[in-house]
Amino acid sequence: MRNLLTLLVILVPLAFSLRIPFKLRTGSVGAITNVTSGGQAVVWTDNAFFVANITIGTPPQLFTVVIDTSSADLFVPDLMCDYPTGVCALPQCDGVYCNEQCPNKTCCLQVKPKFGFDSNYANFLSRKFSQRAANVSTCFGKRQYNSSASSSYSKQAHVVNIRSEHYGEIDGFTGLDTVTLGTSADEMITIANVAFTQVITMSQRFGNLTDIDGVLGLAFTSASVSGSDPPFVKAVKDGDVVDSVFSIWLEDMWQTSDNGTAGTTPYLGYDVPNHCSTNRTMWPLSQVRQWTFTTTGFTAGTYQNSDKWQTHIDSASHFITAPQKVATQVLNQLGLNANTPLPATVPCNTNISFSFTFPNGGQANIITKNLIVPNGMGGCMLAMRASQQTFTLGIPFLRGRCTYFDTTRQLVGTADALSHN
Ligand SMILES: *[C@@H]1O[C@H](CO)[C@@H](O)[C@H](O)[C@H]1NC(C)=O
Ligand SMILES: *[C@@H]1O[C@H](CO)[C@@H](O)[C@H](O)[C@H]1NC(C)=O
Ligand SMILES: *[C@@H]1O[C@H](CO)[C@@H](O)[C@H](O)[C@H]1NC(C)=O
Ligand SMILES: *[C@@H]1O[C@H](CO)[C@@H](O)[C@H](O)[C@H]1NC(C)=O
Ligand SMILES: *[C@@H]1O[C@H](CO)[C@@H](O)[C@H](O)[C@H]1NC(C)=O
Ligand SMILES: *[C@@H]1O[C@H](CO)[C@@H](O)[C@H](O)[C@H]1NC(C)=O
Ligand SMILES: *[C@@H]1O[C@H](CO)[C@@H](O)[C@H](O)[C@H]1NC(C)=O
Ligand SMILES: *[C@@H]1O[C@H](CO)[C@@H](O)[C@H](O)[C@H]1NC(C)=O
Ligand SMILES: *[C@@H]1O[C@H](CO)[C@@H](O)[C@H](O)[C@H]1NC(C)=O
Repeated sequence: MRNLLTLLVILVPLAFSLRIPFKLRTGSVGAITNVTSGGQAVVWTDNAFFVANITIGTPPQLFTVVIDTSSADLFVPDLMCDYPTGVCALPQCDGVYCNEQCPNKTCCLQVKPKFGFDSNYANFLSRKFSQRAANVSTCFGKRQYNSSASSSYSKQAHVVNIRSEHYGEIDGFTGLDTVTLGTSADEMITIANVAFTQVITMSQRFGNLTDIDGVLGLAFTSASVSGSDPPFVKAVKDGDVVDSVFSIWLEDMWQTSDNGTAGTTPYLGYDVPNHCSTNRTMWPLSQVRQWTFTTTGFTAGTYQNSDKWQTHIDSASHFITAPQKVATQVLNQLGLNANTPLPATVPCNTNISFSFTFPNGGQANIITKNLIVPNGMGGCMLAMRASQQTFTLGIPFLRGRCTYFDTTRQLVGTADALSHN
C-alpha cells in the first residue's frame, strides 16, 4: 500500500483523460437532449483513480465517481453521512441506546421516521453510526445526495454493505432515481429509476479521497452487492442506448503528445478514429459477472505460459495482477528472487513487456512504459502484483488502446491506439 501511495504521489502532475463512449437511441432521452452519441471525459484524480462526472436526481445533483469495471454498484454519499451536530453529537445519542440515554430523542429518530425503515434496519444504521469516530463525518468534503431535493427519487431501503479491495468498507441503503452518465447536455445518457446506494458511512481510506464522491460500477448485475442493475446495464435493458457497448481509451504513460491530457472527440460505438485503430478484436466472456474471460497465453521476455487463466479487467487497479506462479517467473526474468516484495523495485531502464493471447487468437501487448512506472521514491517499479489463480488487468493494460465492453453480446475487445508517442 505504501508503495502504491508513493507511486500515486509521483503521478499527481499527470491528468490523463479518457472517454467512455456511449451510443444513444435517438429520441429516448428527448426530455433532456436529442443527441445520438454520448460520452464523458474521464480524468485521473486524487492520485488514485480515473473519475467521471454523473448526476443523480431531478434537478440533477452532480457527483464525481470512479470508473470501475470490476464492481457493479453506483454509490454516493448521502446527506445522512454527515454526523449530527449539537446535542445529537453526544455519545449517548449515538447507537442503539439513544432512545434511553439521549437528552433529545429527535436525534434517535433522524434515520428511522425519515425513510420508514423497519426496526432491523434502523438498528443496523444505529450500529453503523456508533462504530465510526464519534464526531467525524466519514463523508467530509464530499458531495452528498439530498433525496428530499429530488422529485424523481423513490426509496427502496435495502441494506448495502460493500467490502472492497479498492475502497474499504462502505455502508448504506438503496434508493431509486434518475441518473445521467455525463453532464454535458449534448453527450449525456439519461437512465430512469436506477438503484444506487446512499452511503451513510465509508472507510477512512475512501473518505480521504477528497476529489472523489463515489463509484460507478460498470460490471454486471450479478456482481452488484445491492443486487440491482448497474446504470449501464439498466440503460441497455431500458433501451436508453442503441448499442450495448461502452469503451475506455487511455493514453500511454508519458505520452508525449500531451503527457496524458488528451482532448475529447465525438464517439459513435466503436468508431474512435482519433484514438484507436478500427481493426478491433473481440472475444467472449467466460463469466458474466465481472468482465472475465480466459487468456490462453502469457509472455514476458523469454518466459511463456500457455495455461488458461481466468482474467478480468479492472479499471480501478494500478497493476497487472498475475497468478503467483506466473509472477515468480516474471521476477525471474528480471533476475529477481521469488520472494521479492511486490510491486518490485526495478531499475528505470528495465526493458520488459507482457503479451496476452485471447481465445479468438487476438493478442495484446503491454509495453514497457506502462509497466515500469515511478515508485515515488525516485526509482521505478514493475506495476505487477500477485494473486492466487487469476489475472487482473488494470490500468497498465488499458493504456495505449481502446478496450470495448459489450454487455449484451457478452464480449470484450481491444483496438490499438493510433499513437504510442
Ligand atoms: C435537436 O436536434 C435539432 C436538429 O439537429 C437541433 O436543431 C436542436 O438544437 C437539438 N436540440 C437539442 C436540445 O440539442
Ligand atoms: C466534474 O465537475 C466539476 C464541477 O463542474 C469540475 O470541476 C470537474 O472538472 C469535473 N470532472 C470531470 C472528470 O469532468
Ligand atoms: C433536538 O434535535 C433536533 C434535531 O437535531 C433539533 O432540531 C432540536 O432543536 C433539538 N432540540 C433541542 C431541545 O435541543
Ligand atoms: C472530536 O472529538 C474529539 C474529542 O472529543 C476532539 O478532540 C476533536 O477535536 C473533535 N473533532 C472534531 C472534528 O470536532
Ligand atoms: C435538502 O433538500 C431540501 C429540499 O430541497 C432542502 O430543504 C434542504 O435544505 C436540503 N438539505 C441540505 C443539507 O442541503
Ligand atoms: C486519512 O487521512 C488522515 C488525515 O490526513 C490520516 O491520518 C489517515 O491515516 C488517513 N487514513 C487512511 C486510511 O488513508
Ligand atoms: C511529461 O512528463 C515528464 C515527467 O514529468 C516530463 O519529463 C516530460 O517533459 C513531459 N512531457 C511533455 C510533453 O510535457
Ligand atoms: C488487424 O488485426 C489482426 C489481428 O490482430 C492482424 O493480424 C492484422 O494484421 C491487423 N490488420 C491491420 C491492417 O492492422
Ligand atoms: C527491449 O527488448 C526487446 C526484446 O525483448 C528488444 O526488441 C528491444 O530492442 C529492447 N529495447 C531496448 C530499449 O533495449
